[in-house]
Amino acid sequence: MSKSKLGVYGLGVMGSSLALNMLEKGFSISVFNRDEGSEKGTVSSFLEKNSGYDQLSGFTNEAGFIASLERPRRILIMVKAGPVIDLVIQQLLPFLEEGDILIDGGNSHFKDTQRRMDELSKTRNIHFLGVGISGGEKGARYGASLMPGGMKEAYEMVSQILTSIAAKDTSQNPCCTFIGEQGSGHFVKMVHNGIEYVEMQLIAESYSILKQNYSNEQISEIFSEWNKGELESYLLEITAEILLHQNEHGYLIDQILDAAGSKGTGSWSTIAALETGVVNTMMSSSVFARYVSNKKEERISLSKKVSSESVNSSLEIQTLKTAYKAARIVNHHQGFELIRASAKEYNWSLDFSELARIWTNGCIIRSRLMEELSEIFKQSDSLLNHSESFQVIRDAEKALSEVVKSGIDARIPTPAFSSGFEYWISITSENLSSNMIQAQRDFFGAHTYQLKNDPTGSFYHTNWENND
Ligand code: 6PG
Repeated sequence: MSKSKLGVYGLGVMGSSLALNMLEKGFSISVFNRDEGSEKGTVSSFLEKNSGYDQLSGFTNEAGFIASLERPRRILIMVKAGPVIDLVIQQLLPFLEEGDILIDGGNSHFKDTQRRMDELSKTRNIHFLGVGISGGEKGARYGASLMPGGMKEAYEMVSQILTSIAAKDTSQNPCCTFIGEQGSGHFVKMVHNGIEYVEMQLIAESYSILKQNYSNEQISEIFSEWNKGELESYLLEITAEILLHQNEHGYLIDQILDAAGSKGTGSWSTIAALETGVVNTMMSSSVFARYVSNKKEERISLSKKVSSESVNSSLEIQTLKTAYKAARIVNHHQGFELIRASAKEYNWSLDFSELARIWTNGCIIRSRLMEELSEIFKQSDSLLNHSESFQVIRDAEKALSEVVKSGIDARIPTPAFSSGFEYWISITSENLSSNMIQAQRDFFGAHTYQLKNDPTGSFYHTNWENND
């Protein structure tokens, strides 16, 4: 029997969709899944459902699975991120040989990916690739955005398969490109998700402002209208659809509990920003907005103790639209700045234009803006150094402040809009209040300060309590 080109370990939603996508592209595929507990029968039912593919074989034991693969073996691991990945590696290791390639296609933390890569290459000369895959089930099945990181020579041995299952950009190029060394693929996927958190939060905040005066259907129409032009995005498109969905009790959106889940990538992005000294206030605000939402019981109890008086917003839809457009630019700016700082720290040479290009289709944050970014980053290294983008935010200052003010007046939290606007004000202010912070630090801890009129940048200390 001829050997398979690639093995997919784990037949969850993503694993099975990716396997089918690869089979459709003409690759011979072996699949593996455990055959215990709730997963009993997974492989046999997958084989049965997809019996039309003669290049598909299925296994429930590691030895048979590995033996079915051509060498070097290429194995795509599609299991829950976290310690399970290490377990899977341990189970596969006895059957692997030098030069084989393990690919982690989940949302693993990039530092775990780096550790696994180092361990496997040092101890067994086995390659490990960390591949960020975005697009959910549909993307996995019909075309995803793929962010592979690791050793270039290992990537080259799987690039044909990965590019074939990727979505296509407007020029029909695959939304898959080699990102860089080490855990850079998983790192950029993590930031992709951070940007995704903010994009979702900005839409949710816009929805809550509009909800005061408009019905679900009207808001859906407003978002559909926005989605026809420069604000077009996958997330806006699905939101317009969500708002129209009804069941026997009415609109589903009105029945869903306002407590948002999260699986980690948003908070990891925030942690990475704090560690590298990068400002990503919009991401952190969006993560915290989810955390606050989860305090439902506390919110219910405390809400009874405050006055419910609020001023209904009379904000113009156009004002909200202008602010939304600007806030998205700030979000993407903060996201790419985080990538830049980490790339520098880890010595990855990343191509921003190419990165934006592979995010123009297949992934959750695909949008018209992303298409513009792939061009903008060819000429400009930062969105705030790009005069048109800068101008859009500058021209939206009044709109941003009106959105934030109307939220405050109506007691509607707008943490993403607010933090984006605050960042904009700070980064465009020559003078900030940090002279006072420096003085306080020096007062209580002799931490020293620098002086405005001393170009040498020397550090001074004052004995603050002896002023005579
Ligand atoms: C994607 C998504 C995907 C997943 C997120 C959701 O790019 O396809 O980002 O990776 O939907 O992990 O993350 P939260 O559960 O944290 O919202």
